[in-house]
Amino acid sequence: MDLENKTALIVGGGQTPGETIGNGRATAILFAREGATVFVGDKDLASARETVAMIEAEGFLAHALALDVRNEDAIAGFVKTAMDETGKVDILHNNVGISIAGGDARIEDITPDAFDLLVEINLRGMVLATKHVLPHMRAAESGVVLNVSSLAAWKPYPLVGYKTTKAAVIALTEQTAAMNARYGIRANVILPGLMNTPMAVEARVSQGTPRDQVVAERDKQVPLGRKMGSAWDVAHAALFLASDKAGYITGAALPVDGGLSVV
Ligand SMILES: NC(=O)c1ccc[n+]([C@@H]2O[C@H](COP(=O)([O-])OP(=O)(O)OC[C@H]3O[C@@H](n4cnc5c(N)ncnc54)[C@H](O)[C@@H]3O)[C@@H](O)[C@H]2O)c1
Repeated sequence: MDLENKTALIVGGGQTPGETIGNGRATAILFAREGATVFVGDKDLASARETVAMIEAEGFLAHALALDVRNEDAIAGFVKTAMDETGKVDILHNNVGISIAGGDARIEDITPDAFDLLVEINLRGMVLATKHVLPHMRAAESGVVLNVSSLAAWKPYPLVGYKTTKAAVIALTEQTAAMNARYGIRANVILPGLMNTPMAVEARVSQGTPRDQVVAERDKQVPLGRKMGSAWDVAHAALFLASDKAGYITGAALPVDGGLSVV
């Protein structure tokens, strides 16, 4: 197992309700299958508990905690719980990200409040979670920080809050990698492309487009197999980057996009 005896914090390990599995939940399940003790934090505690129930049903270890990344005390408490229970934090996986749900819009329509909320949740949350795990990782002289950005950071994307915060997540990752290599800490960022997850699909269905049409329109844009990826594709990338197999990789931005970034 790739993550045996590791402690992994998954921030945003619940999921948007829907027919498929979300990136954060799939990552939490895969990390647990690979031997990690997983702490699932989410502002939706019921959803975090669902993830934990799925992990426990497979016979693995996980804990669910309520956590809103807008609240620094809650982040500190989340990290402290993992430290109290296991004595270490080996992996921080920053998965939280919102777009349409946060009132994101084109620049001509964006409100200051909506833009602030996007920054607070998509960027500041990752900054604060990283801030609170770094002292423990530095003391241990090892650790892995994984941030989830989006291909929207590299490709044209119409909504200004998501575009700019996801681009900033790449800069945050590079800075975390550069400033912490001397402590044996690695930081990498994943850029999912078009994924068949509830976050991406249900939001568009709820805006009135039939599900089959949403799926077909997204599928046909993907070079590899003309099909969206699944949350498991993101989870497997995260597992590799979290594991010792990626021990010489830091500061990298990994697209998981079926080739979308190169067309
Ligand atoms: N699904 C895609 O197609 C796609 C594409 C590119 C990037 N991404 C990125 O992947 C990540 C999420 O994917 P997912 O499928 O797991 O989404 P998801 O919506 O299913 O899960 C995200 C979780 O974050 C939680 N959350 C939201 N705001 C929070 C807050 N303030 N504090 C704590 N938790 C909060 C939600 O309750 C949810 O459970 C995001 O960073 C997103 O930008 C997704």
